[in-house]
Amino acid sequence: MLRLQAPLPDRYTQAHPDELEASIAAAKERLGPQLLVLGHHYQRPEVIRWADATGDSFKLAQFAAANEDATNIVFCGVHFMAESADILTGDHQRVVLPDANAGCSMADMADLDQVLEAWEELATVTDVEALVPVTYMNSSAALKAFVGAQGGAVCTSSNARTVLEWALARGEKVLFFPDQHLGRNTAYDLGYDGTHMRVWDPRHDLGGLTEPDVKDATFLLWKGHCTVHQRFRPEHVAAFRSEHPDGEVLVHPECSHDVVVEADHVGSTERILEWVDAAPAGAVLGVATEIHMVQRLAADHPDKTVVSLDPLVCPCSTMFRIDGPHLAWCLDALADGTVVNQIVVDPDTTRWARVALERMLDLAGAAGQTATVD
Ligand code: 13P
Ligand code: SF4
Repeated sequence: MLRLQAPLPDRYTQAHPDELEASIAAAKERLGPQLLVLGHHYQRPEVIRWADATGDSFKLAQFAAANEDATNIVFCGVHFMAESADILTGDHQRVVLPDANAGCSMADMADLDQVLEAWEELATVTDVEALVPVTYMNSSAALKAFVGAQGGAVCTSSNARTVLEWALARGEKVLFFPDQHLGRNTAYDLGYDGTHMRVWDPRHDLGGLTEPDVKDATFLLWKGHCTVHQRFRPEHVAAFRSEHPDGEVLVHPECSHDVVVEADHVGSTERILEWVDAAPAGAVLGVATEIHMVQRLAADHPDKTVVSLDPLVCPCSTMFRIDGPHLAWCLDALADGTVVNQIVVDPDTTRWARVALERMLDLAGAAGQTATVD
């Protein structure tokens, strides 16, 4: 979705990195404890170094929900993460996204109209009372609200299994959107095979399926994907293993299933970080996720060899939009008492989206998934 980011003044775009650094440090100092900077693992080094807390999308949502003190939360990540933070924080808190155009192409692959249409079509061939909608965190607040109102829940890559188990205890089928790969990988992980899954293509009537298809399926997987993770192929794993027979392969569950089955470990960005931390000195690790994270893992673990499974660089272009100039610009404005790029979710959407997000937080908490600020 195209949003409008006003061009920054020259004093930010033309600034030397040292000037930006000084400006960010000074604004952080002025704002003190009223400011919380959250940074997703895919952020550039010049941005992540200023984060008060870093994490995967689940951990960052937990931080936002747990923090009541900071009135200004600057979210160095993408739009759906900032929206979720706004939903989970109090009325006295505001969430700022340094570049308004930092979206997520996967989140844009399902919009509310398409999902409402799909739900209506499904109601003509199956009992939607027994259909539980689950949306990946990488989706708009409007979709989270739809899911909340229909008795479903949000999940992230770190708790999809827990949430899908819950959904199947509640109903007979799951409509999972927008990432077919996370849905498929989790369904396989739960012991289902391909005969229980169908891909719902929103560009076709009844998702391109027949009535028996819908009736037979346990998982209806929205035809969406991440352009970054879909690049990884089984051939990359094979090439890594032939070069490093003792190496380990760590992949994100947004990768396609044929890559996931070849991996030693599959998990969220935070889990990938934990596995690299825990690997012994001398370990060789091939990682399938966003390149800035892989490069940072390599730099932070000089005693290990950490490489991207895809030899061609694989950045997330929207995460990359957040840079030093945008961070300096929004922090300066906050320090001067002006709020720029505030992400505000309207109260009706917030009400039901919060239900869906809190279901996830409760389910993950009950499963022992907790996070504390570093
Ligand atoms: P994580 O929740 O694993 O950080 O994933 C978010 C994301 O957008 C990965 O592409
Ligand atoms: Fe979205 Fe993929 Fe970027 Fe994650 S890596 S924010 S899923 S486009």
